[in-house]
Amino acid sequence: MSAVLSPASIPPSALASGDAPPQGLVIRPVAGAAGPLGAEVLGLDLSRPLGHEDFARIHRAHLDHHVLVFRDQRITPQQHVEFSRRFGPLQIHVLKNFQLVGHPEILIVSNIKDAAGQPIGLGDAGHYWHSDLSYKDKPSLGSLLHAQELPGEGGDTLFADQHAAYDALPETLKARIAPLKAEHSYLAKYEELRARSPWRPQLTQAQIDEVAPSIHPVVRTHPETGRKALFVSEHFTTRIVGLPEDEGQALLAELFAASVRPEFTLRHQWQPHDMVFWDNRSVTHLAAGTPDTERRKLYRTTIEGDLPF
Ligand code: SIN
Repeated sequence: MSAVLSPASIPPSALASGDAPPQGLVIRPVAGAAGPLGAEVLGLDLSRPLGHEDFARIHRAHLDHHVLVFRDQRITPQQHVEFSRRFGPLQIHVLKNFQLVGHPEILIVSNIKDAAGQPIGLGDAGHYWHSDLSYKDKPSLGSLLHAQELPGEGGDTLFADQHAAYDALPETLKARIAPLKAEHSYLAKYEELRARSPWRPQLTQAQIDEVAPSIHPVVRTHPETGRKALFVSEHFTTRIVGLPEDEGQALLAELFAASVRPEFTLRHQWQPHDMVFWDNRSVTHLAAGTPDTERRKLYRTTIEGDLPF
């Protein structure tokens, strides 16, 4: 299914931590999943010490399945941060007003408003398909989203397998996009989202500087498995470098459509205390939407990845 995991590819932070006996966890593909996308991790308590053997199995499964669902995790924000850090340094989101107090590494994703009518979190995160922080020079390796409060209906998260999407492209299209690079910008849809959600703050110049656009290959190679993946998204990818505007936009539209074909997607229906860990180098994702009448709150960390190649 995927390349062999060499010891060199296990993050040093994982190897450096103290050992603990295996917890007897079970990893099983998500029922009805198309291809390898999505696996559940059962019988694991992330509030307990995680030994090298269990960590290595989780790491391997993450590379194989791209989306891991850890069921029933009753963990504190600090434990969420500590588990995330075992995969690499954490990234801080530019919208600092939605940080969890005392935990700048945690972004609150929520449609809930406080007593003063102010949003407590980024309510429209994931409105468009995207890979987290792809506008950074070093986009996110992965994200961990932990359910705090779930709606009675709606609130699902969709994932699309970008290796499968790339593999299914016609050979002529693969050859055409092989040398191409694209620009990714946090600002691409910001004003459009702000018009829909006026509580989104106007960005300061310092914030705009912090999210300066980046240029990445249209097809990236996963640094740990060597697999190729499409690396464009409707949220953040603005143009193809070196192509005339109309030609570039037509190509992007074709690639966006190819990247989210239903046969490559997985719908995650949240259960209480789920923590979902996805690989932003392998999948894009979308928040399918929550009715305004329903409350939804999750905590998200993002792990810094490599320079895409
Ligand atoms: C995100 O894009 O990180 C949030 C996804 C979600 O709220 O389902």
